[in-house]
Amino acid sequence: MAKSTNLPGGEDAADGLLLSDGKDPAGRPMPSFPDPMPLTSHGPAWVVAMCNQKGGVGKTTTTINLGAALAEWGRRVLLVDFDPQGALSVGLGVNPHELDRTIYNVLMDGDVAVNDVLLKTNTPGMDLLPSNIDLSAAEVQLVSEVAREQALSRVLAPLRPDYDIILIDCQPSLGLLTVNALTAADAVIIPLECEFFALRGVALLMQTIEKVRERLNPRLEIRGILATMFDPRTLHAREVLARVVEAFGDRVFHTVITRTVRFPETTVAGEPITTYAPSSAGARAYRELAKEVLAR
Ligand SMILES: Nc1ncnc2c1ncn2[C@@H]1O[C@H](COP(=O)(O)OP(=O)(O)OP(=O)(O)O)[C@@H](O)[C@H]1O
Ligand SMILES: [Mg+2]
Repeated sequence: MAKSTNLPGGEDAADGLLLSDGKDPAGRPMPSFPDPMPLTSHGPAWVVAMCNQKGGVGKTTTTINLGAALAEWGRRVLLVDFDPQGALSVGLGVNPHELDRTIYNVLMDGDVAVNDVLLKTNTPGMDLLPSNIDLSAAEVQLVSEVAREQALSRVLAPLRPDYDIILIDCQPSLGLLTVNALTAADAVIIPLECEFFALRGVALLMQTIEKVRERLNPRLEIRGILATMFDPRTLHAREVLARVVEAFGDRVFHTVITRTVRFPETTVAGEPITTYAPSSAGARAYRELAKEVLAR
C-alpha cells in the first residue's frame, strides 16, 4: 500500500482534524462549528440510529464516544444497545451476561418497566439501556407481533422527555431489529471504514432507509456519513475518503475519525476515550463531531 511521506508526526499528528490551510481531510474548506449552547431545560430527545450492516466499521465506538462528547456539552444522553452481542454495554464496563433484565425484556414482556433496566454510566449525564444475547430471540419473536416494526419506538416514547439525545447502536444487519431502530429514529448516522470495500452495501442500506421513510417513518433523515479508521499517511485511505465524498457530497461529515489503537484500548478499559485519554486525537475528533452533529 502506498505511503505518503509528507505528513510528519506520530499517531497524534494524524488526528483527522489536521487543518493545514483550513481544509478538512478530504480537502474541503473546514467550517468552524460553534460550541453548543448550554441548555436550561431538557428533552424531548432527538433519536439517532448508528447504522451500517457491514461489521466492524465503528458503530459502537461512535455511539459511546459521540454520546460521551455530547454529555460533556451538558446534553442528557441515552445510549441504547440494540445489538445482541452487547458490545456497547461491554464498552461501558457492563458485563451484559450477568444482567437478568435487558432491553429484550422491556421489548417482549409487558410487565418489565424500562426504568428497571436503565443503568447509569460513569459518564455524568449518560445512561445505558443494555442488551445481551437474549435480544437475538426478539428478532424471531417480533415477527408475529402486531406493529412489529414499532416495538422499539414504543419502548423509547416514555423516555424521550428525559433526554436530549438518544443514540441507538445497531447490529450489523438489516433485519427486523435494525428496521425497529430506523422506525424509532429521527436521523441516521452511517459510519464507513476508510478501506477498499467501504462503499459495498451502502446502496442497499440507502434503499432500506428510503423504504422505512416511505412506509413507516417519514421524519427519518440521514444526518451524515462518518469516515472512520482513517489513516492520513496512506494514499489508499485518502483515495477512499475522496471517493466517499464524491459519492455523497455534503452528507459526509467534515470531521473524520482516525485509526488509532487508543479505541480498542478504551473497550478494554470500559470507558469512553473522552475520559480514558481526554486530550488524545480520538477524544478531540469525537468532540468535534459532537459540535458538527449539533450544528447541522
Ligand atoms: N478509529 C478507530 N481506530 C482503530 N480502531 C478502531 C477505531 N474505531 C473502532 N475501532 C476498533 O475496531 C473494532 C470494531 O469497531 P466497532 O465495534 O466500533 O465497530 P461496529 O461497527 O460496532 O462493529 P459490529 O458491526 O461488530 O457491531 C473494535 O475493536 C474497535 O475498538
Ligand atoms: Mg457494534
